[in-house]
Amino acid sequence: MQETGIPTPLESFLRRTLRPAEGFLADMERSAGKRNIPVCRPETSALLRFLVAAKQPGRILEIGTAIGYSTSVMAMSQPDGGRIDTLEMDEARADEAEENFRLLGLSGRINLLRGDALEILPCLTTPYDLIFMDAAKGQYPEYLDHCTRLMVSGGVLVADNVLFMGLSIMEDPVPHKHRTIAVRLRQFLKELCGNPAYETSILPVGDGVAVACKRPECSMHANDRKAE
Ligand SMILES: C[S@@+](CC[C@H](N)C(=O)[O-])C[C@H]1O[C@@H](n2cnc3c(N)ncnc32)[C@H](O)[C@@H]1O
Repeated sequence: MQETGIPTPLESFLRRTLRPAEGFLADMERSAGKRNIPVCRPETSALLRFLVAAKQPGRILEIGTAIGYSTSVMAMSQPDGGRIDTLEMDEARADEAEENFRLLGLSGRINLLRGDALEILPCLTTPYDLIFMDAAKGQYPEYLDHCTRLMVSGGVLVADNVLFMGLSIMEDPVPHKHRTIAVRLRQFLKELCGNPAYETSILPVGDGVAVACKRPECSMHANDRKAE
């Protein structure tokens, strides 16, 4: 999608072709759209469903809950007994997400942690099988070090909006209001793709999604790697 919000012909085709959200999930998608609450795009949601169905992750970490749309998409594809920890700093969105989890019967398996991800992530110790990064785009480089520490060997990292309406691949000058985010996203992609702990691909799905698998033999912290 361009900055205008108008879907590209490819996006329109994907949305006509991929299985759409149904029932209450479709209501959440519409409600978020009407109120300009950023939730992942339908084709990104299909990718999340696919990854969770293929990987069957018992423990998921999500950074950036909003109203709990992607959390619910993942929870519904997770194996029985699966758990999701999800981080959100906006109180009103967190309240709405918890109500949505209740209405969907998912409250028992989702743990919403309220506050700034940069303060919560250093306190987490649970190993995760899949991490979905979708909070402040300018903070992705900081989130990455925590994800590397928290991810099990063979775990999968998914980061949304990495192409940022095409602005992160734009030759300079990037329009001033987006420059910092574009620079930070480029830094994130460079660090992720250059990190031998990960096998990484960048998919031009939705607003751009980076997918990375942590190699089984690499369990070192990203900073230790950089220092080598
Ligand atoms: C793109 S939305 C998440 C959308 C959600 N993953 C979905 O697809 O349904 C990003 C969310 O991250 C939250 N956020 C931004 N920076 C954050 C931070 N530092 N810590 C916690 N949450 C943050 C915002 O309040 C916002 O609700």
